[in-house]
Amino acid sequence: MEKQKDTVKVLFSEQEIEKRIEEIAEQINQDYKGKSLCCVSVLKGGIFVTCSLVKRLTMSVSLDFIAVSSYGKEKKSSGQVNILKDLDESIEGKDVLVIEDIIDTGRTLAELLRIFESRNPSSLSICTLLEKKRPREASSIDIRYTGFVIPDHFVVGYGLDYGERYRNLPYIGIIEEEIHEGVGE
Ligand code: PRP
Repeated sequence: MEKQKDTVKVLFSEQEIEKRIEEIAEQINQDYKGKSLCCVSVLKGGIFVTCSLVKRLTMSVSLDFIAVSSYGKEKKSSGQVNILKDLDESIEGKDVLVIEDIIDTGRTLAELLRIFESRNPSSLSICTLLEKKRPREASSIDIRYTGFVIPDHFVVGYGLDYGERYRNLPYIGIIEEEIHEGVGE
């Protein structure tokens, strides 16, 4: 376990992440002042940013979770999203904020938005901690709140995993190359 810290290069420290989330929370508090907000956390990766964000929100907040996985669990996802756990509550007529850890190709989110839009929310916005700077296949997605735009590196920590490891790191980092290859991607 101690080895984890030695093999990951820090990209954003815990302090940097928390400061940025605080800034985003202030913006959301202004945008949704006087409203009720239904926060939807996309598991598993979104759990860290969700907890940090929602405790800083000052409007009336409800919290729900959806767990998804891409079909086949391959690097190149088919764009089909398999719902492992659906929302508990209806989002019809509600202001919904979808909270993600990272948007990479955008396929997961595009499919999630298609599902959520069919349920007729009053509004639907997206908050992501990380957004990869790369050509996105689902380019029409409008991301309202972004923590950091990052290069196309494989990142872990703060909810993000590599083979289910590293989620627990309080910072976001890049796995050192030799370790990354060694795990068997
Ligand atoms: C990650 C992340 C997003 C998705 C982004 O989830 O949480 O949901 O991948 O990738 P995309 O933009 O290329 O679709 P993952 O499938 O790894 O599940 P996890 O959150 O449980 O680790």
